[in-house]
Amino acid sequence: MTKVCIVGASGKLGRYMVEHALARGYEVVGVCREKSVRKLAAYEGRIAVVPGMTDDRDVIARATEGCDAVLTVLVPWGLKNYASGTATAVLDLAPPGARLVFSCGWHISRDGKDVYSRRFRAYVAAFTRLARWIRLADIDDQVEATNRIFASDRAWTVVRGSDLEEGESQGLPVWSHHIGDPVLASNRTRRTDFALFMVEAIDDESLVREAPAIVGRLTPSALAHAR
Ligand SMILES: NC(=O)c1ccc[n+]([C@@H]2O[C@H](COP(=O)([O-])OP(=O)(O)OC[C@H]3O[C@@H](n4cnc5c(N)ncnc54)[C@H](OP(=O)(O)O)[C@@H]3O)[C@@H](O)[C@H]2O)c1
Repeated sequence: MTKVCIVGASGKLGRYMVEHALARGYEVVGVCREKSVRKLAAYEGRIAVVPGMTDDRDVIARATEGCDAVLTVLVPWGLKNYASGTATAVLDLAPPGARLVFSCGWHISRDGKDVYSRRFRAYVAAFTRLARWIRLADIDDQVEATNRIFASDRAWTVVRGSDLEEGESQGLPVWSHHIGDPVLASNRTRRTDFALFMVEAIDDESLVREAPAIVGRLTPSALAHAR
């Protein structure tokens, strides 16, 4: 049986990933903060939970032991290098050969060839400054985290999510290499489908060492431009 560790399992994206992984018959180990374990109560008896911070190397070593894949919700909370600490722990400690799939947003660029609207750039710049000022989050550390992943020779995929919304699944999102590609213009994905893409990536060899930017498959831009 495929054994999957979901790092950040108690959040919205994480719980959708738990659902999709269980639906595939995978054995699931979830990592989440101690105070959030109750958010996984619906899965009691069906998944194992390792409580702890996601950048705690002991927690990651224990949770990923024997796993075929590790799906990580990469979040930049606080100013203590949470995202880069989490990514580094997963890269260093997940079993050799495990598929490693990480989530982030469109603001992450692997090769600098993404083309952003002026509005998007202004929003990211303002949010980065404000979040740092109120000590909420460190977007630059999420950039550092993904740079470490991009430099790694492990079997990683960095899934770059568009703006998210709740709602029924539209099926597997479509993806493209660069923000600015016409197929992505709608900038909208159902959160359950973001999770679906993360879980499906486990078995998709073509996504190894790729940073797909995704968009909902029934959005106008996907319908107009998807091949
Ligand atoms: N929100 C968007 O519109 C959007 C757009 C594009 C991409 N993304 C990407 O999608 C992923 C999921 O984002 P989301 O917004 O949908 O959120 P989410 O799924 O609810 O995940 C938030 C995660 O952050 C954890 N968290 C919250 N506060 C924390 C704190 N103070 N310290 C440590 N951990 C904390 C949560 O854990 P607890 O359960 O313990 O609180 C949860 O695991 C991220 O990688 C994000 O970059 C989001």
